[in-house]
Amino acid sequence: MSIEHPSFGKLDSSRIIIFDTTLRDGEQSPGFSMNLAEKLRMAEALAELGVDVIEAGFPIASPGDFESVRSIARTVKGPVICGLARTSRADVIRAGEAVAAAERRRIHIFISTSALHMKYKLRMEPDAVLQAVTDSVTLARQFTDDIEWSAEDGSRTDPDFLCRCTEAAIAAGATTINVPDTVGYALPEDMAGIFTMLRERVPGVERVILSAHNHNDLGLAVANTIASVRAGVRQIECTINGIGERAGNAALEEIVMALRTRPDAVACRPAIVTERILRTSRLLSAITGFDVQPNKAIVGRNAFAHESGIHQDGVLKNAATYEIMTPESVGWTKSNLVMGKHSGRAAFRDKLRALGYGEIGDNQLNDAFRRFKDLADRKKVVYDDDISALVDDEVVRDHTRIRFVSLDVHAGSRTKPTAEMELEIDGTMRRAKATGDGPVDATFIAIRSLFPHEATLRLFSVGAITEGTDAQARVTVRLEEDGKMVDGQGSDTDTIVASARAYVHALNKLLVKRTRTEPKELSA
Ligand code: KIV
Ligand code: ZN
Repeated sequence: MSIEHPSFGKLDSSRIIIFDTTLRDGEQSPGFSMNLAEKLRMAEALAELGVDVIEAGFPIASPGDFESVRSIARTVKGPVICGLARTSRADVIRAGEAVAAAERRRIHIFISTSALHMKYKLRMEPDAVLQAVTDSVTLARQFTDDIEWSAEDGSRTDPDFLCRCTEAAIAAGATTINVPDTVGYALPEDMAGIFTMLRERVPGVERVILSAHNHNDLGLAVANTIASVRAGVRQIECTINGIGERAGNAALEEIVMALRTRPDAVACRPAIVTERILRTSRLLSAITGFDVQPNKAIVGRNAFAHESGIHQDGVLKNAATYEIMTPESVGWTKSNLVMGKHSGRAAFRDKLRALGYGEIGDNQLNDAFRRFKDLADRKKVVYDDDISALVDDEVVRDHTRIRFVSLDVHAGSRTKPTAEMELEIDGTMRRAKATGDGPVDATFIAIRSLFPHEATLRLFSVGAITEGTDAQARVTVRLEEDGKMVDGQGSDTDTIVASARAYVHALNKLLVKRTRTEPKELSA
């Protein structure tokens, strides 16, 4: 059966809407905050990936959040741009203003509907919640015809009340009804049962899109989402790499590939350019400083690696013996020898396009090209992964207050480790020299003397991007200040330089965090 939707027109029953909330539910989880430039870069990548809706943020949360949603609405073409709001007038108006410039725009309103949340979190009676649903959706219609309404803690809501709220939202003009499993409590049959019930009991439900939003506290977010689709859901809410509150949200890459791989079981095709999945996942890791674990489905380093002899033998004879999808279908390519130190800028740009970077700005290209030349001088073979790492480094460092310029370190078994550091801070070059208990310690002390701050170093970890002793190191640094935690990443063939870059990255993220007030009442 087809539905007429204000943003998508006529939707036939095999069309599934991919609603990406990496920049909202994902970004609001500890350590994952992004600055404006990073959010814009990520939103462009999501548009290139082919998502249908980008939930760009929660505009009332802070002026920074409002500005990010507004900028994405102005510049990112293709997907519907959505802003989140509670039911208050101020929230809805702020969300409406933030998405106003988008070609297609959505306001997403949520309110808790479970007895537990209404009593302890909202301190509201059910009838007042019902009225708030009607009033807020009615108000939102003044800004756009594309309105989503969510029953927060929907999976633990009394079925009769969920039906009443859904009916009220549809009657007031909501065009998408989302039932979140906010605390990741439900089992697949529970979610399927809820959507089947809504479809059977709520008048007008046939005119709207039902949507699933699952959290991963029991590791069931993807399973719950697939079960919901089989029960008639037409929109899936998800995030890249499954980032999100606590254990995260349902992972976009896993859901999309499950639907692609099993059309026999679920007859829905998302309009995602699956070959861009890995690129998008890596970009998010570079921006946030969080790598996915090696065994992560689809995008983990080992997702297509066959270690055992029996498996390798089978795959060589016929890949289908042990591979249910091809690595290429999600963007994995063989790690190629790319270019040498004599390669020019045009070849470098071509390589970036082949790696899926599209058009990157001239400044970023120049910086990345300079670093590539430097790398090719120092490293015997330069792989695609090396290039991706250094370009991602440049992309995330654009528009930051503190920039790494240079580092010289003197260390060894008979020398007091000394670091000479050069940083550009708010456009001014600064230099400092420091000694420490080791070369990394000396480097971090030098950074502290150039940009004094109180943050505590909580984690320092080093890994290799490719193989061999000349491989680039990828370093992660975690800083904590006033309960706010950020992770930064840096890569270089020199582990100490990679450490300095990672520290500077983390510091820049901390500066963004300092300017931000977290919305007290936003849950999940
Ligand atoms: O998990 C949740 O309930 C949410 C809502 C705001 C949709 O993220
Ligand atoms: Zn959520």
